[in-house]
Amino acid sequence: MKIDGKVALVTGAGQGIGRGIALRLAHDGAHIGIVDVHEDKMMSVAKEIEALGRKVTFIKADVSNRDEVIRAIDHVESKLGSFDIMVNNAGIAQVKPLLEVTPEELNRIYQINVAGVLWGIQAAAKKFISKKKKGKIISACSIAGHEGYAMLGVYSSTKFAVRGLTQAAAKEFASFGINVNAYCPGVVGTDMWTEIDKRFSEITGAKIGETYNKYVGNIALGRAETPDDVASFVSYLAGPDSDYMTGQAPLIDGGMVYR
Ligand SMILES: NC(=O)c1ccc[n+]([C@@H]2O[C@H](COP(=O)([O-])OP(=O)(O)OC[C@H]3O[C@@H](n4cnc5c(N)ncnc54)[C@H](O)[C@@H]3O)[C@@H](O)[C@H]2O)c1
Repeated sequence: MKIDGKVALVTGAGQGIGRGIALRLAHDGAHIGIVDVHEDKMMSVAKEIEALGRKVTFIKADVSNRDEVIRAIDHVESKLGSFDIMVNNAGIAQVKPLLEVTPEELNRIYQINVAGVLWGIQAAAKKFISKKKKGKIISACSIAGHEGYAMLGVYSSTKFAVRGLTQAAAKEFASFGINVNAYCPGVVGTDMWTEIDKRFSEITGAKIGETYNKYVGNIALGRAETPDDVASFVSYLAGPDSDYMTGQAPLIDGGMVYR
């Protein structure tokens, strides 16, 4: 187990991709700090991690709040005795024609998807540097971070921003032994896609499930992605096999977007 005894904090780990990453890193030997806005969901994931024989702690925090992110890292470090891997996974979607986006909606998604990732990168890097230790910082990007999608224009722009932050942070922190990378999933069958599909229906009149099936139909490997598919790649980014990789945001999408 290549990350045996390391401590990983995963944001948005109460469900979906974040839960999958938390379980995979626990399976790889790490102890896990869970951060989310939903306490009941964190509690149930914590039980699953305990069952794998790892230490676990959870703390409610909104990633758009810088102080809460700093507090969450301090909490995880003090409860689990170390802090080695930061996964900035929490994010929200927004399905809206560009002509209708309001300042409030723009601000909300930027606060979570962009500022939330920046605060996670900043707080984790400060912690690693203050402790003079190497670390891994990994953030959720998307196929929408490589290509802008209709009705998902603002969401796409937030994921392009994650790629920019990842590249800049990789350059700023390389000399401290901190690797900064991102993962770009395609269409993962989580609650986020249930919501995207529903919103598309409201806007375009498509039947429920139609938009999801249309997107999945474009995947070369012929099936929707699972949280485990994403987590396998994050496991690589979290471990020593990716020590020579930094500033990258590779696509892990079953063959949808080719770069
Ligand atoms: N589902 C996909 O197809 C897909 C594709 C590409 C990228 N992504 C990205 O992967 C990440 C996870 O997506 P998912 O599909 O698991 O979503 P999800 O909606 O199923 O789960 C997101 C989790 O994040 C939490 N969260 C939301 N806002 C938060 C906040 N402000 N602070 C703390 N926690 C918060 C939620 O409570 C939830 O538990 C997101 O960043 C998303 O943009 C998802």
